[in-house]
Amino acid sequence: MHILVIGSGGREHALAWKSAQDESVSEVFVCPGNAGTALENKVSNVSINIDDFAAVKDFCVKKNIELVIVGPEQPLVDGLVDYLQRNDIKTFGPSSAAAQLEGSKTFSKDFFVKYGIPTATYAAFDNFDSAKDHLKKIQFPTVVKADGLAAGKGVIICHTENEALAALTSIFKDQAFGVAGASVVIEDFLIGEEASFIAVVSKDKIIPLATSQDHKAVGDGDVGLNTGGMGAYSPAPIVDEKMHQKIIDEVMQPTMQGLIAEGSPYLGFLYAGLMINNGELKVLEFNCRFGDPETQPILLRLKSSLVQLCLAAIEDKLDSYQIEWSKQHACGVVIASQGYPEDYSKNNKVSFQSTNADGIKLFHAGTKLHNEKVLTSGGRVFCATALGKDLQEAQSKAYDLVESVSFDGAFYRKDIGNKGIR
Ligand code: AMP
Ligand code: GLY
Repeated sequence: MHILVIGSGGREHALAWKSAQDESVSEVFVCPGNAGTALENKVSNVSINIDDFAAVKDFCVKKNIELVIVGPEQPLVDGLVDYLQRNDIKTFGPSSAAAQLEGSKTFSKDFFVKYGIPTATYAAFDNFDSAKDHLKKIQFPTVVKADGLAAGKGVIICHTENEALAALTSIFKDQAFGVAGASVVIEDFLIGEEASFIAVVSKDKIIPLATSQDHKAVGDGDVGLNTGGMGAYSPAPIVDEKMHQKIIDEVMQPTMQGLIAEGSPYLGFLYAGLMINNGELKVLEFNCRFGDPETQPILLRLKSSLVQLCLAAIEDKLDSYQIEWSKQHACGVVIASQGYPEDYSKNNKVSFQSTNADGIKLFHAGTKLHNEKVLTSGGRVFCATALGKDLQEAQSKAYDLVESVSFDGAFYRKDIGNKGIR
């Protein structure tokens, strides 16, 4: 069987690596991929522009691709899955309409209210003046969110009215996020502990994946700017059995049913970003994809076949699919380029040691191959991921692996996993 994975990050390296382990899979193509996917056994990169849906389809036909897995949100929101499915290519991921859960904050907040899903109180605005007036009526801190996709940068936590005014100015007047900032959501600031709940969903059927938690802030102790995630671990102790059920009952089921009622049933990875406070639960956001870096530790723990799981979802057979997890814990530490999540340099030469040891994997993210050398090409460059009998052991092995990597300007958080050990 031939598989195509769309994307180029650490998540896609993990999806491709895991797919390649399936005995029925002879080749995995990644479009556009990174140096990690280029070097992986049974995996190769394809340089097609993923905005060119027809070119992606032609490649699928030519290579007899039997499953496409779409990693990132942009092609999902843009309708790549709809296009490939219309052309009879088996594709795992939500339709553009269902991906609006991530593609538009206004859509998702209105959806939460309509279907009784717990979330922060909010108001939405499509112009500066009415948003500014609203600031007079609320308490601080507050959270200003650009409506559309903004590569994880569109959420601004504002401690004072002045900060909120600056955020609105940058969104509406300076158009910092372009069309993604055509409207905003302003919502109550929530306190508590964040957790990621990720599941494979097909219409009204769900297989929750192993629980996980990521570390969003750039600095140790959760200080500094928010990033896409500086590391993650699985399982997450904050999601105990009772909380797990509560999330399914109060968040996932009403979301799946709501999407069916709206005429856009969900297929794909569905990721709820949650705030948990004293056993109470609120949804911060939905992502219409697997998390990055959550994918890396979660897939290291997955014993079953990812390919068969995706196919079962597409064929509406999730009911009969038995998913199996390693009892071990996993920890993934992101190694990033100095300056990330703001400006950083690229094309720095990387050195790292390859290892084939079980339960240890250096996933590439922002890397590329140039004249057979690995160079940095993004803000998050690697995710050093390891299994251990407990989180401490997984953490210690992941940090040993981090030590084997070097490039100019490399930095990483020193406390990934501590939240879970505490
Ligand atoms: P989002 O993309 O909406 O998940 O926001 C990104 C990050 O901003 C979240 O992971 C939280 O750390 C933070 N955040 C978003 N909304 C809120 C909120 N209402 N209260 C507190 N923090 C928030
Ligand atoms: N790690 C957070 C995300 O994937 O959005």
